[in-house]
Amino acid sequence: MTNSNKPNLRSPRSPRSGRPVHIVGTGSYLPDRILTNADLEKMVDTTDEWITSRSGIKERRIAPDWMCTSDMGTEAARRAMEQAGVREDEIDLIICATITPDMPLPNTACLIQHKLGAKRAAAFDIEAACSGFLYGMEIGQQFITSGTYNTVLVIGAEKLSTIVDWQDRGTCVLFGDGAGAVVLRSRGPERGILTTCMGADGSKGDILFMPAGGAKFPASKESVSARMHVIKMEGKEVFKSAVIAMQTAAEEALKKCNLTINDIKCIIPHQANLRIIDAIAARLGAPKEKVYINLHRYGNVSAASVAIALDEAAREGRFQRGDLILLVVFGSGLTWASCVIRW
Ligand code: UT7
Repeated sequence: MTNSNKPNLRSPRSPRSGRPVHIVGTGSYLPDRILTNADLEKMVDTTDEWITSRSGIKERRIAPDWMCTSDMGTEAARRAMEQAGVREDEIDLIICATITPDMPLPNTACLIQHKLGAKRAAAFDIEAACSGFLYGMEIGQQFITSGTYNTVLVIGAEKLSTIVDWQDRGTCVLFGDGAGAVVLRSRGPERGILTTCMGADGSKGDILFMPAGGAKFPASKESVSARMHVIKMEGKEVFKSAVIAMQTAAEEALKKCNLTINDIKCIIPHQANLRIIDAIAARLGAPKEKVYINLHRYGNVSAASVAIALDEAAREGRFQRGDLILLVVFGSGLTWASCVIRW
Protein backbone atom coordinates (compact mmCIF):
# COMPACT_ATOMS: atom_id res chain seq x y z
CA MET A 1 0.00 0.00 0.00
CA THR A 2 1.47 3.38 -1.01
CA ASN A 3 1.42 6.42 1.24
CA SER A 4 -1.30 8.04 -0.86
CA ASN A 5 -3.96 5.38 -0.35
CA LYS A 6 -3.28 4.50 3.27
CA PRO A 7 -6.39 5.03 5.37
CA ASN A 8 -6.32 7.81 7.96
CA LEU A 9 -3.94 6.69 10.66
CA ARG A 10 -4.96 8.94 13.53
CA SER A 11 -8.20 10.47 14.62
CA PRO A 12 -7.81 14.20 14.26
CA ARG A 13 -7.98 16.56 17.16
CA SER A 14 -9.31 20.09 16.73
CA PRO A 15 -8.18 22.95 18.95
CA ARG A 16 -11.56 24.58 18.20
CA SER A 17 -14.56 24.96 20.47
CA GLY A 18 -18.00 26.30 19.61
CA ARG A 19 -20.22 25.17 16.74
CA PRO A 20 -18.53 22.95 14.12
CA VAL A 21 -18.23 24.57 10.68
CA HIS A 22 -18.36 22.79 7.32
CA ILE A 23 -17.91 23.63 3.68
CA VAL A 24 -21.34 22.65 2.32
CA GLY A 25 -20.87 23.83 -1.27
CA THR A 26 -18.09 24.90 -3.63
CA GLY A 27 -18.14 26.70 -6.97
CA SER A 28 -15.81 28.36 -9.43
CA TYR A 29 -15.91 30.44 -12.58
CA LEU A 30 -13.22 30.89 -15.22
CA PRO A 31 -13.62 33.21 -18.20
CA ASP A 32 -13.66 31.48 -21.61
CA ARG A 33 -10.72 33.25 -23.25
CA ILE A 34 -7.48 31.26 -23.04
CA LEU A 35 -4.12 33.04 -23.33
CA THR A 36 -1.48 30.41 -24.13
CA ASN A 37 2.28 30.58 -23.74
CA ALA A 38 2.46 30.70 -27.55
CA ASP A 39 0.26 33.85 -27.47
CA LEU A 40 2.65 35.41 -24.92
CA GLU A 41 5.62 34.66 -27.18
CA LYS A 42 4.10 37.22 -29.57
CA MET A 43 3.67 39.84 -26.82
CA VAL A 44 6.97 39.77 -24.88
CA ASP A 45 10.45 38.26 -25.23
CA THR A 46 9.65 34.83 -23.81
CA THR A 47 9.24 31.20 -24.81
CA ASP A 48 6.85 28.40 -23.97
CA GLU A 49 9.90 26.42 -22.85
CA TRP A 50 10.97 29.11 -20.33
CA ILE A 51 7.49 29.63 -18.88
CA THR A 52 6.80 25.89 -18.61
CA SER A 53 10.15 24.96 -17.09
CA ARG A 54 10.32 27.93 -14.64
CA SER A 55 6.66 27.98 -13.54
CA GLY A 56 4.72 24.97 -14.89
CA ILE A 57 2.11 27.31 -16.40
CA LYS A 58 0.86 26.54 -19.94
CA GLU A 59 -2.14 28.85 -20.21
CA ARG A 60 -4.29 31.28 -18.22
CA ARG A 61 -7.79 32.76 -18.56
CA ILE A 62 -8.41 36.42 -19.37
CA ALA A 63 -11.76 38.09 -18.67
CA PRO A 64 -13.29 40.36 -21.34
CA ASP A 65 -13.23 44.13 -20.75
CA TRP A 66 -16.89 44.28 -19.66
CA MET A 67 -16.52 41.49 -17.06
CA CYS A 68 -15.51 42.61 -13.57
CA THR A 69 -14.23 40.78 -10.51
CA SER A 70 -17.75 40.96 -9.02
CA ASP A 71 -19.24 39.23 -12.11
CA MET A 72 -16.85 36.29 -11.77
CA GLY A 73 -17.34 36.21 -7.99
CA THR A 74 -21.12 36.21 -8.40
CA GLU A 75 -21.05 33.28 -10.82
CA ALA A 76 -18.71 31.24 -8.60
CA ALA A 77 -20.98 32.02 -5.62
CA ARG A 78 -24.12 30.94 -7.53
CA ARG A 79 -22.48 27.60 -8.33
CA ALA A 80 -21.44 27.06 -4.69
CA MET A 81 -24.95 28.00 -3.47
CA GLU A 82 -26.56 25.68 -6.00
CA GLN A 83 -24.40 22.79 -4.83
CA ALA A 84 -25.15 23.61 -1.18
CA GLY A 85 -28.88 24.02 -1.84
CA VAL A 86 -28.76 27.48 -0.24
CA ARG A 87 -31.04 30.35 -1.30
CA GLU A 88 -29.95 34.03 -1.51
CA ASP A 89 -32.16 34.99 1.44
CA GLU A 90 -30.41 32.44 3.68
CA ILE A 91 -26.99 34.10 3.40
CA ASP A 92 -26.00 36.08 6.50
CA LEU A 93 -22.57 37.29 5.42
CA ILE A 94 -20.55 37.64 2.22
CA ILE A 95 -16.77 37.97 2.41
CA CYS A 96 -14.87 38.64 -0.80
CA ALA A 97 -11.09 38.23 -0.86
CA THR A 98 -9.54 40.21 -3.70
CA ILE A 99 -6.69 42.51 -4.69
CA THR A 100 -8.59 43.59 -7.81
CA PRO A 101 -11.86 45.04 -6.52
CA ASP A 102 -14.15 46.49 -9.22
CA MET A 103 -13.44 49.90 -7.64
CA PRO A 104 -12.09 51.22 -4.32
CA LEU A 105 -15.62 51.69 -2.99
CA PRO A 106 -18.16 50.24 -2.59
CA ASN A 107 -16.54 46.92 -1.77
CA THR A 108 -16.83 44.01 -4.19
CA ALA A 109 -18.76 41.86 -1.68
CA CYS A 110 -21.54 44.51 -1.70
CA LEU A 111 -21.62 44.43 -5.51
CA ILE A 112 -21.89 40.62 -5.36
CA GLN A 113 -24.60 40.85 -2.67
CA HIS A 114 -26.66 43.02 -5.05
CA LYS A 115 -26.06 40.76 -8.06
CA LEU A 116 -27.07 37.69 -6.05
CA GLY A 117 -30.07 39.42 -4.46
CA ALA A 118 -28.79 38.31 -1.04
CA LYS A 119 -30.54 41.23 0.68
CA ARG A 120 -30.16 39.98 4.26
CA ALA A 121 -26.37 39.56 4.04
CA ALA A 122 -23.72 41.82 5.52
CA ALA A 123 -20.85 42.19 3.06
CA PHE A 124 -17.20 43.21 3.15
CA ASP A 125 -13.91 42.59 1.34
CA ILE A 126 -10.63 41.46 2.77
CA GLU A 127 -7.19 41.98 1.24
CA ALA A 128 -4.50 39.47 2.10
CA ALA A 129 -3.41 38.94 -1.53
CA CYS A 130 -3.03 35.25 -2.46
CA SER A 131 -3.74 34.25 1.17
CA GLY A 132 -7.02 36.17 1.17
CA PHE A 133 -9.35 33.23 0.61
CA LEU A 134 -8.09 31.28 3.64
CA TYR A 135 -8.06 34.45 5.75
CA GLY A 136 -11.67 35.00 4.62
CA MET A 137 -12.68 31.41 5.40
CA GLU A 138 -11.26 31.77 8.89
CA ILE A 139 -13.19 35.02 9.48
CA GLY A 140 -16.38 33.44 8.14
CA GLN A 141 -16.02 30.31 10.22
CA GLN A 142 -15.49 32.38 13.38
CA PHE A 143 -18.91 34.01 12.85
CA ILE A 144 -20.56 30.58 12.62
CA THR A 145 -18.59 28.98 15.44
CA SER A 146 -19.59 31.83 17.76
CA GLY A 147 -23.26 31.43 16.85
CA THR A 148 -23.51 34.92 15.30
CA TYR A 149 -24.37 33.70 11.79
CA ASN A 150 -25.56 30.44 10.22
CA THR A 151 -24.61 30.78 6.55
CA VAL A 152 -21.53 32.54 5.21
CA LEU A 153 -20.41 32.87 1.61
CA VAL A 154 -16.65 33.24 1.12
CA ILE A 155 -15.40 34.21 -2.33
CA GLY A 156 -11.94 34.64 -3.85
CA ALA A 157 -12.18 36.60 -7.11
CA GLU A 158 -9.59 38.36 -9.25
CA LYS A 159 -9.21 40.21 -12.52
CA LEU A 160 -5.42 40.27 -12.35
CA SER A 161 -5.14 41.01 -16.08
CA THR A 162 -5.98 44.64 -15.16
CA ILE A 163 -2.95 45.07 -12.84
CA VAL A 164 -0.40 42.92 -14.67
CA ASP A 165 2.41 44.75 -16.47
CA TRP A 166 1.99 43.37 -19.98
CA GLN A 167 5.47 44.71 -20.86
CA ASP A 168 7.23 42.85 -18.02
CA ARG A 169 8.04 39.29 -19.07
CA GLY A 170 9.06 38.46 -15.48
CA THR A 171 5.48 38.79 -14.20
CA CYS A 172 2.95 38.93 -17.05
CA VAL A 173 3.36 35.23 -17.87
CA LEU A 174 2.33 34.17 -14.36
CA PHE A 175 -1.16 35.53 -13.67
CA GLY A 176 -4.76 34.98 -14.78
CA ASP A 177 -8.40 35.81 -13.99
CA GLY A 178 -11.13 33.78 -12.25
CA ALA A 179 -13.12 33.17 -9.09
CA GLY A 180 -13.93 30.46 -6.54
CA ALA A 181 -16.38 30.32 -3.65
CA VAL A 182 -17.55 28.22 -0.72
CA VAL A 183 -20.67 28.19 1.43
CA LEU A 184 -19.94 27.68 5.13
CA ARG A 185 -22.50 26.24 7.53
CA SER A 186 -22.74 24.01 10.57
CA ARG A 187 -23.83 20.58 9.29
CA GLY A 188 -23.62 18.31 12.31
CA PRO A 189 -21.76 17.51 15.48
CA GLU A 190 -18.51 16.31 13.85
CA ARG A 191 -16.09 19.17 13.17
CA GLY A 192 -15.39 20.04 9.47
CA ILE A 193 -12.84 22.87 9.52
CA LEU A 194 -10.42 21.53 12.15
CA THR A 195 -7.97 24.39 12.33
CA THR A 196 -6.58 27.39 10.47
CA CYS A 197 -3.13 28.95 10.98
CA MET A 198 -2.42 32.43 9.66
CA GLY A 199 0.74 34.54 9.59
CA ALA A 200 2.25 37.69 8.12
CA ASP A 201 5.60 39.47 7.72
CA GLY A 202 5.11 43.10 6.80
CA SER A 203 8.86 43.73 6.69
CA LYS A 204 8.94 42.04 3.26
CA GLY A 205 6.07 44.02 1.74
CA ASP A 206 8.36 45.41 -0.94
CA ILE A 207 9.16 42.13 -2.70
CA LEU A 208 5.65 41.80 -4.16
CA PHE A 209 3.57 44.97 -4.43
CA MET A 210 1.71 47.51 -6.51
CA PRO A 211 2.96 50.97 -5.56
CA ALA A 212 0.22 53.34 -6.76
CA GLY A 213 -3.55 53.65 -6.68
CA GLY A 214 -3.85 54.01 -2.90
CA ALA A 215 -3.48 56.97 -0.54
CA LYS A 216 0.32 57.01 -0.84
CA PHE A 217 0.41 57.50 -4.60
CA PRO A 218 -3.08 58.33 -5.86
CA ALA A 219 -3.55 57.98 -9.61
CA SER A 220 -1.86 60.85 -11.44
CA LYS A 221 -0.36 61.43 -14.86
CA GLU A 222 3.05 60.86 -13.26
CA SER A 223 2.07 57.59 -11.55
CA VAL A 224 0.60 56.23 -14.77
CA SER A 225 3.59 57.20 -16.92
CA ALA A 226 5.96 55.75 -14.31
CA ARG A 227 4.05 52.42 -14.59
CA MET A 228 3.25 52.39 -10.88
CA HIS A 229 -0.22 50.81 -11.23
CA VAL A 230 1.04 47.33 -11.99
CA ILE A 231 2.44 44.36 -10.02
CA LYS A 232 6.15 44.53 -9.15
CA MET A 233 7.85 41.38 -7.95
CA GLU A 234 11.28 40.12 -6.94
CA GLY A 235 10.55 36.60 -8.07
CA LYS A 236 13.47 34.79 -6.46
CA GLU A 237 12.92 36.37 -3.03
CA VAL A 238 9.20 35.61 -3.17
CA PHE A 239 9.98 32.04 -4.19
CA LYS A 240 12.27 31.45 -1.19
CA SER A 241 9.86 33.02 1.31
CA ALA A 242 6.91 31.08 -0.14
CA VAL A 243 8.55 27.69 0.29
CA ILE A 244 9.57 28.32 3.90
CA ALA A 245 6.28 29.95 4.96
CA MET A 246 4.04 27.33 3.35
CA GLN A 247 6.02 24.42 4.76
CA THR A 248 5.97 25.93 8.26
CA ALA A 249 2.25 26.80 8.09
CA ALA A 250 1.34 23.30 6.87
CA GLU A 251 3.37 21.63 9.62
CA GLU A 252 1.85 23.89 12.28
CA ALA A 253 -1.71 23.06 11.20
CA LEU A 254 -1.00 19.31 11.13
CA LYS A 255 0.59 19.47 14.57
CA LYS A 256 -2.36 21.36 16.04
CA CYS A 257 -4.66 18.58 14.81
CA ASN A 258 -2.38 15.78 15.99
CA LEU A 259 -1.96 14.60 12.38
CA THR A 260 0.91 13.71 10.07
CA ILE A 261 1.06 14.25 6.33
CA ASN A 262 0.19 10.55 5.89
CA ASP A 263 -3.26 11.24 7.33
CA ILE A 264 -4.01 13.80 4.62
CA LYS A 265 -5.85 12.60 1.52
CA CYS A 266 -5.30 15.70 -0.62
CA ILE A 267 -3.08 18.79 -0.37
CA ILE A 268 -4.33 21.89 -2.15
CA PRO A 269 -1.58 24.54 -2.28
CA HIS A 270 -1.63 28.05 -3.70
CA GLN A 271 -1.11 27.71 -7.44
CA ALA A 272 1.79 30.10 -8.12
CA ASN A 273 4.64 27.94 -9.39
CA LEU A 274 5.02 24.19 -9.90
CA ARG A 275 8.57 24.32 -8.53
CA ILE A 276 7.29 25.90 -5.29
CA ILE A 277 4.60 23.22 -5.00
CA ASP A 278 7.11 20.41 -5.68
CA ALA A 279 9.52 21.84 -3.09
CA ILE A 280 6.78 22.00 -0.44
CA ALA A 281 5.56 18.47 -1.19
CA ALA A 282 9.14 17.17 -0.89
CA ARG A 283 9.75 19.03 2.39
CA LEU A 284 6.47 17.74 3.83
CA GLY A 285 7.26 14.21 2.64
CA ALA A 286 4.08 14.05 0.57
CA PRO A 287 3.87 11.94 -2.59
CA LYS A 288 3.08 14.03 -5.70
CA GLU A 289 -0.23 12.19 -6.30
CA LYS A 290 -1.60 13.75 -3.12
CA VAL A 291 -1.08 17.29 -4.35
CA TYR A 292 -3.81 18.95 -6.44
CA ILE A 293 -2.46 21.06 -9.29
CA ASN A 294 -4.31 23.16 -11.86
CA LEU A 295 -1.84 26.01 -12.39
CA HIS A 296 -0.89 24.73 -15.85
CA ARG A 297 -4.43 25.70 -16.94
CA TYR A 298 -5.04 28.93 -15.02
CA GLY A 299 -1.71 30.34 -13.78
CA ASN A 300 -1.73 32.24 -10.51
CA VAL A 301 -5.20 33.71 -9.77
CA SER A 302 -4.14 35.14 -6.37
CA ALA A 303 -7.03 34.98 -3.85
CA ALA A 304 -9.08 32.85 -6.25
CA SER A 305 -6.40 30.19 -6.85
CA VAL A 306 -6.98 27.88 -3.90
CA ALA A 307 -10.75 28.41 -4.06
CA ILE A 308 -10.86 27.30 -7.71
CA ALA A 309 -8.55 24.36 -6.98
CA LEU A 310 -10.70 23.27 -4.02
CA ASP A 311 -13.84 23.33 -6.15
CA GLU A 312 -12.24 21.39 -9.01
CA ALA A 313 -10.61 18.83 -6.71
CA ALA A 314 -13.92 18.23 -4.90
CA ARG A 315 -15.90 17.90 -8.14
CA GLU A 316 -13.27 15.53 -9.58
CA GLY A 317 -13.73 13.30 -6.51
CA ARG A 318 -10.15 13.71 -5.27
CA PHE A 319 -11.50 13.25 -1.73
CA GLN A 320 -14.72 11.96 -0.18
CA ARG A 321 -16.81 12.79 2.87
CA GLY A 322 -14.69 12.15 5.98
CA ASP A 323 -11.31 12.53 4.21
CA LEU A 324 -8.80 15.00 5.60
CA ILE A 325 -7.51 17.75 3.31
CA LEU A 326 -4.85 20.41 3.78
CA LEU A 327 -4.97 23.85 2.16
CA VAL A 328 -1.88 26.07 2.24
CA VAL A 329 -1.34 29.49 0.73
CA PHE A 330 1.15 32.35 0.48
CA GLY A 331 1.05 35.88 -0.89
CA SER A 332 2.01 39.53 -0.82
CA GLY A 333 2.18 41.17 2.57
CA LEU A 334 3.83 38.83 3.12
CA THR A 335 0.91 36.68 4.24
CA TRP A 336 0.39 32.94 4.54
CA ALA A 337 -2.18 30.51 5.91
CA SER A 338 -3.00 26.82 6.22
CA CYS A 339 -6.19 24.96 6.99
CA VAL A 340 -7.03 21.34 7.81
CA ILE A 341 -10.54 20.21 6.92
CA ARG A 342 -12.42 16.95 7.45
CA TRP A 343 -14.55 16.93 4.27
O1 UT7 B 1 1.29 34.52 -5.65
C1 UT7 B 1 2.34 34.95 -4.83
C2 UT7 B 1 3.51 34.56 -5.10
N1 UT7 B 1 4.23 34.63 -6.35
C3 UT7 B 1 5.12 33.66 -6.48
O2 UT7 B 1 5.13 32.74 -5.69
C4 UT7 B 1 6.15 33.77 -7.57
C5 UT7 B 1 7.48 33.29 -7.03
N2 UT7 B 1 8.59 33.33 -7.98
C6 UT7 B 1 8.61 32.57 -9.09
O3 UT7 B 1 7.68 31.86 -9.37
C7 UT7 B 1 9.87 32.60 -9.92
O4 UT7 B 1 10.86 33.36 -9.27
C8 UT7 B 1 9.65 33.15 -11.37
C9 UT7 B 1 8.87 32.15 -12.19
C10 UT7 B 1 8.93 34.46 -11.30
C11 UT7 B 1 10.99 33.37 -12.06
O5 UT7 B 1 11.79 32.21 -12.02
P1 UT7 B 1 13.35 32.31 -11.60
O6 UT7 B 1 13.92 30.99 -11.77
O7 UT7 B 1 13.37 32.90 -10.23
O8 UT7 B 1 13.93 33.28 -12.70
P2 UT7 B 1 14.61 34.70 -12.53
O9 UT7 B 1 13.59 35.74 -12.16
O10 UT7 B 1 15.82 34.60 -11.68
O11 UT7 B 1 15.07 34.97 -14.00
C12 UT7 B 1 16.05 34.14 -14.64
C13 UT7 B 1 16.30 34.69 -16.02
C14 UT7 B 1 16.62 36.17 -16.06
O12 UT7 B 1 17.56 36.39 -17.07
P3 UT7 B 1 19.11 36.61 -16.71
O13 UT7 B 1 19.15 37.80 -15.81
O14 UT7 B 1 19.54 35.35 -16.05
O15 UT7 B 1 19.73 36.85 -18.05
C15 UT7 B 1 15.30 36.80 -16.45
O16 UT7 B 1 15.47 38.03 -17.10
O17 UT7 B 1 15.11 34.51 -16.82
C16 UT7 B 1 14.75 35.77 -17.40
N3 UT7 B 1 13.31 35.80 -17.52
C17 UT7 B 1 12.66 35.31 -18.59
N4 UT7 B 1 13.07 34.74 -19.71
C18 UT7 B 1 12.17 34.34 -20.59
C19 UT7 B 1 12.41 36.29 -16.63
N5 UT7 B 1 11.18 36.13 -17.10
C20 UT7 B 1 11.30 35.53 -18.32
C21 UT7 B 1 10.38 35.09 -19.28
N6 UT7 B 1 10.84 34.51 -20.40
N7 UT7 B 1 9.04 35.23 -19.11
